[in-house]
Amino acid sequence: KEEENKVFLCQTLLHHYSPSIDKDVLLLTASIEGIKYEFQEKLLGGAALDATGVPLPEDTLSVAKQSDAVLLGAIGGYKWDKNEKHLKPETGLLQLRAGLKVFANLRPATVFPQLVDASTLKREVAEGVDLMVVRELTGGIYFGKPRGFGTNENGEETGYNTEIYAAHEIDRIARFAFEVARKRRGKLCSVDKANMLEASMFWRKRVLAFAQEYPDVELSHMYVDNAAMQLIRNPKQFDTIVTNNIFGDILSDEASMITGSIGMLPSASLGDSGPGLFEPIHGSAPDIAGQDKANPFATVLSAAMLLRYGLGEDKAAERIEKAVMDTLNRGFRTADIYSSGTKLVGCKQLGEEILKSVESPVPAG
Ligand code: IPM
Ligand code: MN
Repeated sequence: KEEENKVFLCQTLLHHYSPSIDKDVLLLTASIEGIKYEFQEKLLGGAALDATGVPLPEDTLSVAKQSDAVLLGAIGGYKWDKNEKHLKPETGLLQLRAGLKVFANLRPATVFPQLVDASTLKREVAEGVDLMVVRELTGGIYFGKPRGFGTNENGEETGYNTEIYAAHEIDRIARFAFEVARKRRGKLCSVDKANMLEASMFWRKRVLAFAQEYPDVELSHMYVDNAAMQLIRNPKQFDTIVTNNIFGDILSDEASMITGSIGMLPSASLGDSGPGLFEPIHGSAPDIAGQDKANPFATVLSAAMLLRYGLGEDKAAERIEKAVMDTLNRGFRTADIYSSGTKLVGCKQLGEEILKSVESPVPAG
């Protein structure tokens, strides 16, 4: 490839692995597959707060916008938990998502056959689960106004937020989700709370309007409380789920546990144009910082999503996904996905094993 891909790496889980395993995997894969990257690392979240006083420095956003893809670790930590909202690491992440206009967040929950026994669900329930949560990422209650703290008519203190969706915000995520479902198994379940919330009634109406454009996709609607229950009762009924920002946040955490661990789930956030944002769905796990316990698979799989959805490098993405399978086949596990008969290793060693597998994948079987 002539042109270098500009991949931009935000401050990642440095307290878990240093140097970053996601970057190492990308660099090794690139050199094998003949892809060139130019990496630029910029600060976000807590690291940015400590260095610059804000969670998303201007320089970080502008470099991110000029990149071809943005790779992000996870943000947050005890140190900044009590900060005012505009000075929280999480606010930096939300500003980055909004700044890049990545309204569609893809969160695949796939149960790897090697990890069925790591799931808290029974083997027959978890086995073969392969679903995709399409979460709306730049609207809804996360961004809706009015929001804030106030006082009610009795003079009592209050806190409030607004769940609001404009027509175009629902339309673009609906279209996106129908396209995703069409390329998968052709089933789309829209999750809402239309029995109670106006924002959801509107959501359902707009999503339904797309049905005739996608006659090949089987559309259903489900209330979010029921969906939470159905995900545990019979997750195999789902193919593609489309839902709003907050329900998608919650349901994707739930879906991740079917796969054995939240440490397994990557995500891709995409917009109409501009770079995509690729990050694991998990947080920064400050409770296990410095213990070499974190599961690097979600981060590594996010790098694979970056290659596939961000740069169109499917072959390189497959190499990473195969390396993950291969590492699992060779029995290596971090504590969160350990089961008897497998090899318990730390984050660092697992990272090294993944790199070995990237270099020379052993055919499965
Ligand atoms: C996620 C996270 C974020 C979210 C937090 C850190 C703001 O939980 O990516 O799922 O709620 O979107
Ligand atoms: Mn979340």
